[in-house]
Amino acid sequence: MISVKTDRELEIMRKACKITAAARALAGEMVRPGVTTGEIDKAVHDFIVSQGAKPSFLHYQGYPGSACISVNEVVIHGIPGDRVLKEGDIVSVDVGAFWQGFHGDCAATFACGTISQEAQRLIDVTKQSFFEGIRFARQGNRVSDISHAVQAYVEANGFSVVRAFVGHGVGEHLHEEPSVPNYGAPGKGPRLVKNMTIAVEPMVNMGSYEVRVLRDGWTTVTADGKLAAHYENSILITDGEAEILTVPEGL
Ligand code: MF3
Ligand code: CO
Repeated sequence: MISVKTDRELEIMRKACKITAAARALAGEMVRPGVTTGEIDKAVHDFIVSQGAKPSFLHYQGYPGSACISVNEVVIHGIPGDRVLKEGDIVSVDVGAFWQGFHGDCAATFACGTISQEAQRLIDVTKQSFFEGIRFARQGNRVSDISHAVQAYVEANGFSVVRAFVGHGVGEHLHEEPSVPNYGAPGKGPRLVKNMTIAVEPMVNMGSYEVRVLRDGWTTVTADGKLAAHYENSILITDGEAEILTVPEGL
């Protein structure tokens, strides 16, 4: 069942999503050579708690951090710890906050110091693919209209979209129906309805789309060891353009 949120629920979600987006921004500002991923995770944790919210990911299916911090060839679900960031790294930070019964979920990839032109292009194409996708995120369209637009843009730019992980509905649960893949033919999947809330999250690889999960059960890396980037926002379907909920403004 795909949940459609009431106006009251949407007000709560807006706040949860603002907290989440502010946590992402805070993490992004901390990305620089010499900082550990564990330090960023702690700052994310403490900020979310300071807002009266809970980190959505902490203990989710046993996940040990508040943020996922995924460096270079790590696509998603990098576990924060002692790793020291160095000049030229690209650092994906994924955060979730649970406030008054609702989750926000968002991610972005940040440059650590000066990075290669090609790495910057990967980050830019990944972010733009989200915006290409959500042009189709409106009442009456189908989920895979978003998916198709993301894939077409990414592949036109010479990169590939991860298949093994997908976006999702978001709300009372971190992961709700529907699944929102970043690939596929248009015109398929559930129809989008006003007041659905979904997390659209392209994961883009510089090389092949294949990924594998390390023995820790979380860390997901590109199979070919090449770079990957991630960009995600929680959005609200309306009868016009989608509203991006994970914006920090007005927190
Ligand atoms: N944004 C990710 C997702 O939508 C975060 C989940 S990480 C986990 O799946 F640790 F919570 F599992
Ligand atoms: Co997500």
